[in-house]
Amino acid sequence: MPALIVGNWKMNGLGEAVAEIAEMAGSGPDPRRAALWIAPPFTLIDRAVIVAAGTVKIGGQDCHHKNSGAHTGCVAAAMLADLGAGFVIVGHSERRRDNGETDADVRAKAMAGQAAGLEVILCIGETREQRDAGQTDAVLSAQLAGSLPDDGEGLIIAYEPVWAIGTGLVPTLDDVAAAHAHIRRELVARLGPAGHGVRILYGGSVTPANAADLLGVADVGGVLVGGASLTAASLLAIAAAA
Ligand code: PGA
Repeated sequence: MPALIVGNWKMNGLGEAVAEIAEMAGSGPDPRRAALWIAPPFTLIDRAVIVAAGTVKIGGQDCHHKNSGAHTGCVAAAMLADLGAGFVIVGHSERRRDNGETDADVRAKAMAGQAAGLEVILCIGETREQRDAGQTDAVLSAQLAGSLPDDGEGLIIAYEPVWAIGTGLVPTLDDVAAAHAHIRRELVARLGPAGHGVRILYGGSVTPANAADLLGVADVGGVLVGGASLTAASLLAIAAAA
């Protein structure tokens, strides 16, 4: 299975930034080795879809759990699909922190994304305090219990330790393997055989320097990349590691 390399641009990028996506599309990896997906800010999705030319999949960083209604400033999953987006990220720790999103909110958003025909990247991960207290597995289990949708249709899990995001810190490869194995057991326990088919990404301070090691860990099906996804040069170097 080709590795999945997903870039999360967060609140970065004005119009000229779509040139980076055009370059990713033009010089992308061999599709047998890696697929490139980018989640630019909402404001760039329509332009990104055009320059991505079907080579890079474009997605949203969040969606509302309802289809429409009186929710000022919010964006529905169907609106993302209408722009040509193919996936949506839900439950990123920055949204949990900045917007108070709960596991129940994340679950509702994931199901809205599935209903709109999008692939859904559902993010989970422990804080530093939780890891130091030996609670990593319990935290991941609780997040999955609260946020997994009813079925695994189009579902991808991103394991992102909160303390590794944007810090330059990464867990040991053994710790990544242990977390992915734990998540896999939970997916199979909750979704049945379909749980075997759900891809699990690692995210948190992925760079061209550490991508090959991380992608080599058992059951790491790809990476979710923040800072190092903003330029084509950097993301293509990560894809080359696949
Ligand atoms: P980072 O962000 O690669 O900048 O650590 C990862 C993420 O938040 O998905």
